[in-house]
Amino acid sequence: MTDDLIIRYLHFVSIFILVAAVLGQHLILRGTITRALVGKAQRLDIAYAISVVVVLGTGLLQWLVVGKPADFYSSNPVFHTKLTLFLVIGLVSVYPSVYLGKNRKGEPEELVTIPRGIVWSVRVELLIIFLMPLLATLMARGIGIPLLKE
Ligand code: HEM
Repeated sequence: MTDDLIIRYLHFVSIFILVAAVLGQHLILRGTITRALVGKAQRLDIAYAISVVVVLGTGLLQWLVVGKPADFYSSNPVFHTKLTLFLVIGLVSVYPSVYLGKNRKGEPEELVTIPRGIVWSVRVELLIIFLMPLLATLMARGIGIPLLKE
C-alpha cells in the first residue's frame, strides 16, 4: 500500500518536472536567442530526460507490479494509446535534444537562430503531454476496456 502511494506520488512529481522542462524550452526556444539561452534550454533537456525515465519507471511499476492487475491496463486500448503517445513524445524530442547538445557551447553572447522544426517539435511535445492526463483518467476508471471485449 505504501509502495503504491510512493510510486503514484513519484509518477505525478515526475510529470510536473516533465511539463516544467518542456514548457521552459517552449518559452526559450524561439526566433534568435543567445548561445547562453541555448545552454539553459539544454540544461532543461537534462531535467526532461531524467523526468522521462522516472515517469516511465513509475508507470511500468503501476502497470506491472503495484495496484490493479496488469491485465486491467493491458486489455485497454486507451492505455495502449497512452503508451504510444509517450513513445511519440520520446521520438519527437530526439531532434531538439540532438540540436541542443550540438549548439550549447560557444560564446555566451553569440546569437543563434532557432530552426522552425525545433520550435514545432517542442509545441507538439507539449500538446501530446496535455492529452496524457485525459487518457490516464479514462484508463484508471477502466473506460475503454469494453471496446476490446465486445
Ligand atoms: C507524460 C506521460 C504521462 C502522463 C502525463 C501520465 C499521467 C498519469 C495520471 C494523471 C495518472 C493518474 C490517473 C488517475 O488516477 O485518474 C496516471 C496513472 C497511471 N499511469 Fe501514467 N502518465 C504518463 C506516462 C505513463 C507511462 C509511460 C505509463 C506506463 C508505462 C503510465 C502508466 C500509468 C498507470 C499504470 C497508472 C495507474 C492508473 C490507475 O490508477 O489505475 N503512465 N498517469
